[in-house]
Amino acid sequence: MANISYVNGLYCNIQEAKISINDRGYHFGDAVYEVILYSNGIFYDYEEHIKRLFNSLKLINIKFHLSEQQLKIIIKNLFKLNRVNFGSIYIQVSRGVADRNHSYFGLCSKPVLTMIVSKKKNNISDDIKGVKAITMVDNRWSRPDIKTTQLLPNVLAKTFANEKNAYEGIFIDHEGYITEGSSSNIWIINNNNEILTREIDGKILSGITRKTIAKFVKKNNFKLLEKKFTKDELLRSKEVFLTSASSFVTPIIQIDNFKINNGIVGKTSIELRNLYFKNF
Ligand code: PDD
Repeated sequence: MANISYVNGLYCNIQEAKISINDRGYHFGDAVYEVILYSNGIFYDYEEHIKRLFNSLKLINIKFHLSEQQLKIIIKNLFKLNRVNFGSIYIQVSRGVADRNHSYFGLCSKPVLTMIVSKKKNNISDDIKGVKAITMVDNRWSRPDIKTTQLLPNVLAKTFANEKNAYEGIFIDHEGYITEGSSSNIWIINNNNEILTREIDGKILSGITRKTIAKFVKKNNFKLLEKKFTKDELLRSKEVFLTSASSFVTPIIQIDNFKINNGIVGKTSIELRNLYFKNF
């Protein structure tokens, strides 16, 4: 983790950063967030992430006091102060500070902006190892399309996966279709060489990395189908990979007890991962 964070108008050392015990983000998860990847002066998909942040704010009716330009200045300052070459920024906006009350009706609280810069290991080499995942029931609320900090089902899913020596938990809806990972979007390549990822149907987060990879997929003449797929299709795939701002494109080589592609990282996943890093 880098040292200088931004909390409610102040740049401060992470150890000294303070938020109120009455912050609604703390009480209710009444907050939205973004994670943006940064590498040597470049923010990956910056505009798209900021657009989604403002959309999330609108969807839960938080009236944010900063403009996109003001936000950008603070973000750039933070990277300068932290001297991070490869990392990410976590941006959170909560509804603000108020006596604990579920309703925010009539509340005039000022939103609280917090930002933390994290250093990442440089791990973008070609010989990337694949990861394991496990499947589980999607027991989240009915609006996983909004990027809120209310992430308890995701937290439990990821922890359960880690306890089983897996990197990601993959959610399955009540009809047996894959929704997404606990913190990623899921993709498969089937035996007809079609690349599938679930359509944006309100049951998944509209991932920014997903959108960028979808563009690369089309540009490079792969066949893309934005369409939901079952657990059976997932397990019979030639290749499976996940995408997110923090895991980029990461191949999955085992799901539950089934090996994907005999446990070997597939070449299309690697190709897409390389395209992602080369095109910014
Ligand atoms: N998570 N789906 C979920 C549930 C997510 O939490 C994320 C990202 C994604 C991928 O979205 P994007 O490509 O825009 O990062 C999909 C972030 C990285 C996190 O919670 O840390």
